[in-house]
Amino acid sequence: MKSITLKTASCDSIIYCGEGAFAERTQHLRDKKLFIITDSNVHKIYARLIEETFGTNYVYVMPAGEGSKNHVQLFKILSAMLENGVTRSSTVVALGGGVVGDVAGLAASLYMRGVNLVQIPTTLLSQVDSSVGGKTAVDFKGVKNVVGTFYQPGEVIVDPLFLATLPKREIRCGLGEIVKYGALDKDIYKSLVRNRAHLKDMKFLEDITFDCISHKAEVVRADERDVGGRRKTLNLGHTTGHAFELYYRRKSHGEFVLIGMYYELYIARSMGICTGKYADNIEKLIKKVIGKIPAYPDAEKAAYFAKYDKKNTAATTVSVIVPMSEGESAEIKLPLEEYARYIARCRDSLAEKGMKEEKIMKLAVIGKDVSASDSPKMHSFIAKNMGNEISYDKISIPEGEFENRIDYVIKNYDGFNVTIPYKLSIMPRLKKIVGDAQLFGAVNTVLKSDMSGHNTDGAGFMLMLRNNGVDAAGKDVLLLGAGGAGRAVAKKLAEAGAHVYVYDRNSQSASSLAAECKGITAIDEVAPEDYYLIINATGVGMHKTVGVSPVGEDVLCRTQTAVDLIYVPAESEFLRIARSLGKKTINGQAMLFYQAYFAECIYFGAQPDDAQAKELFQKYITEA
Ligand SMILES: NC(=O)c1ccc[n+]([C@@H]2O[C@H](COP(=O)([O-])OP(=O)(O)OC[C@H]3O[C@@H](n4cnc5c(N)ncnc54)[C@H](O)[C@@H]3O)[C@@H](O)[C@H]2O)c1
Repeated sequence: MKSITLKTASCDSIIYCGEGAFAERTQHLRDKKLFIITDSNVHKIYARLIEETFGTNYVYVMPAGEGSKNHVQLFKILSAMLENGVTRSSTVVALGGGVVGDVAGLAASLYMRGVNLVQIPTTLLSQVDSSVGGKTAVDFKGVKNVVGTFYQPGEVIVDPLFLATLPKREIRCGLGEIVKYGALDKDIYKSLVRNRAHLKDMKFLEDITFDCISHKAEVVRADERDVGGRRKTLNLGHTTGHAFELYYRRKSHGEFVLIGMYYELYIARSMGICTGKYADNIEKLIKKVIGKIPAYPDAEKAAYFAKYDKKNTAATTVSVIVPMSEGESAEIKLPLEEYARYIARCRDSLAEKGMKEEKIMKLAVIGKDVSASDSPKMHSFIAKNMGNEISYDKISIPEGEFENRIDYVIKNYDGFNVTIPYKLSIMPRLKKIVGDAQLFGAVNTVLKSDMSGHNTDGAGFMLMLRNNGVDAAGKDVLLLGAGGAGRAVAKKLAEAGAHVYVYDRNSQSASSLAAECKGITAIDEVAPEDYYLIINATGVGMHKTVGVSPVGEDVLCRTQTAVDLIYVPAESEFLRIARSLGKKTINGQAMLFYQAYFAECIYFGAQPDDAQAKELFQKYITEA
């Protein structure tokens, strides 16, 4: 663990950085009266650690996200501080990302004209940047950070421990600020260029975090209140980043900083301020972290939001900090119109290179009644964690209304999931039927760009089995129910080499399924035989019949695993009996998540990956 003392006119702030910092530096806090502020995501993951470390001290949990950085949340925190008897001798602990740090810092600075503050940053961005230097703020009337104070934390505890649970996208955001430091500091620049291939490596991040903090501490020592010009340099990339953030909103701060840096580098290049290999290397670093830079069609309009930047000294002039050469930056002041023209030209050059504005995918789930569907929650979670943005609507279409409404859905959505009873009705509208949708003769996922229809039922089911260590190849499987779900799983199991025996009380359905596919046999009655796996794909066990089982103990005692595709969280009677007989049981709800994962891969053209799906599922179980 390393430390840096940041002596300023207002206070000495000590920053502890490195593995073990949290365990070691929270010891002395245990005897104090603490008021801990965190956010809902951090709390979900670290509730146990918080309790073990801080005991019975009050924990205020604010909703996660930039939306909480406002005066309403600030006053809620102040009220809770008052109600919980926080005094001048108490300590406020800000445990979270930059949002928690900024709001908690502001609350600590205002309450009784200032109480001791400890920052424990948990995102890469807050570790390398926002927790150090004493800037606190909330957004107000749509303007970022416009209400705030300078208030140094007594201590900052930076521990890489928290980075292990950080989504990839948040690592990217932190790297945005790190690249900014690279454009300001020779040594950081060299280290970034040297390590360009493994910027996300945890050991590298730990080392570079300390270097960034050291750089920031040196700047803050020289210009704590941002008046002498030195602290302004930390705003590299931020003039345009903030303008885009205000206009577009949908990305996060760190991503906009990277995009802002790219647009501002374009200005510096056009003006001959930053050129040659150095400019090329900065550009490569930006692209390495963020990938594509969007060519925003409304870039000029967004650029006008730069007039709110606090570096500006006149209403019609924009101040931009740009990289110059290794370890050197420059401030340029441009009339607002000229600045907007540069931004537009940068956009045009991006568009010429084939870059497009990144669209938010507009997705939906359609069905007869989808009001209770969890799909929006699942799809949004998966998309976000895969680094994509989506909006997701539920659209209930009464039976008989399908033909009238479906054109609207096709016109207005980039893709949609189809539930019962429209899995077949959608087919005449499609240009191609792909993969399993052909095998099953039913579609559950539609991609608008090529009007293709897919079916993710089978892939989701098989992944659920694999994740539970069930491999039915070469084994006997009893399937109850030859409806939509039953057909899909029977065909996938037969394809995987299982011998599937299917029973349906409508024997016609079972025989027609068996006739369609080798490896599937229709049976007229369910006799107690030795089956490796028994799957319930009938409606028995759903909703109101959850206390009824389609087969009894005599059948279930002769299997190893029972799977119920009832899609309700409660344990069905079928599974309860199997469990009481010591059998492995799987509630098929997980399949919905895996299906949604495969659908997201279709929407975003990504390659499905079992390990990624499993990791996301675990995360969803913890966080959702
Ligand atoms: N004060 C300053 O000097 C300064 C400097 C830079 C940025 N900022 C501010 O910081 C904010 C952005 O900070 P941020 O990027 O940390 O955003 P954030 O605080 O919203 O955190 C990003 C996301 O990560 C989650 N998260 C936090 N820690 C986690 C962990 N360990 N594991 C899993 N998830 C975790 C959060 O709940 C949130 O969903 C912006 O409001 C920006 O204006 C302030």
